[in-house]
Amino acid sequence: LKKEIWENFEKIEDFSQLENFRIKYLGKKGKITSFLKLLKELPLEEKKYLGKELNELKDLLEEKLKEKEREILFREEDKDLGLDLTLPGRSPFIGTLHPLTQVIDELCEIFSRLGFEIVTGPEIETEYYNFTALNIPEWHPARDMQATFYLKNGALLRTHTSPMQIRAMLERKPPLRIVAPGKVYRCDADIRHSPMFHQIEGLMVDKDVSFSDLKGILTYFAREIFGEKTKVRFRPSYFPFTEPSLEMDIECVICKGKGCKVCGEAGWLEILGAGMVHPEVFKAVNYDTELWQGFAFGLGIERIAMIKYGIDDIRMFFENHLFFLQSFK
Ligand code: PHE
Repeated sequence: LKKEIWENFEKIEDFSQLENFRIKYLGKKGKITSFLKLLKELPLEEKKYLGKELNELKDLLEEKLKEKEREILFREEDKDLGLDLTLPGRSPFIGTLHPLTQVIDELCEIFSRLGFEIVTGPEIETEYYNFTALNIPEWHPARDMQATFYLKNGALLRTHTSPMQIRAMLERKPPLRIVAPGKVYRCDADIRHSPMFHQIEGLMVDKDVSFSDLKGILTYFAREIFGEKTKVRFRPSYFPFTEPSLEMDIECVICKGKGCKVCGEAGWLEILGAGMVHPEVFKAVNYDTELWQGFAFGLGIERIAMIKYGIDDIRMFFENHLFFLQSFK
């Protein structure tokens, strides 16, 4: 009987087999139970001996069955959890740098190759740094309540990164070459405008800096960002803090100059403003205009990113949809 019991015990693999086994040996009509009932009819000596044997076997078997039950339970649970150790692991979710951060990093990298130092400054500015020192007079439309966020204490949120020109020139001595990326703020919002956006400012001051250096550096930057065959063009423009001033366009990346919706049928996309540092600006920082010359440029990061990645709604950058962000891996 013992041999038979242990052989069958080894064959148990699931709960129904375990239950059948229990009934077969330990149930009311089970083999061990029946044997125990038969004991009464045996002589005392045999009763004692067999009784002990049978009860020990019964206890041992009950214990072993409990163990077996736990073993099967764990195995079934693992199956329920879909735990299969032979499967390859799931890779962890990895985030990405924000597309604007990627463009800022790329721009900074290009300009540092050209010897420009990267600097940053405050987003809360005074009227002096944001306007006055940049030769933007009281009556200038840029000072209008419509475009500028003024704070209660008379300070304001910078409307462009140009105050960094003033801060950089006051903090160091010429010659200098800096780029200043950062957030700027203007009161407007639609698919092209966001009340907060990013610019990068560039400034170079030296003894012999010309308009053609400016054009050369801007052309180089455009080809690094948009590809070496990118066509550029310069148009005369006006900024109070540069003279002469220009705006640079690149040939529309979509229609290649033929005219399409993206470029408003113009064939060209405006990407930045620039010019030679105005003598009034040098005066504000006490630089000798007889000795020093310089150029400055400023460009919108969102605009560069929208052109580069073909995005038509600026709000995509700030809504944090994972499918959007994950596409910039
Ligand atoms: N600050 C100007 C703007 O926000 C851009 C600019 C910067 C133009 C530097 C000329 C020189 O539009």
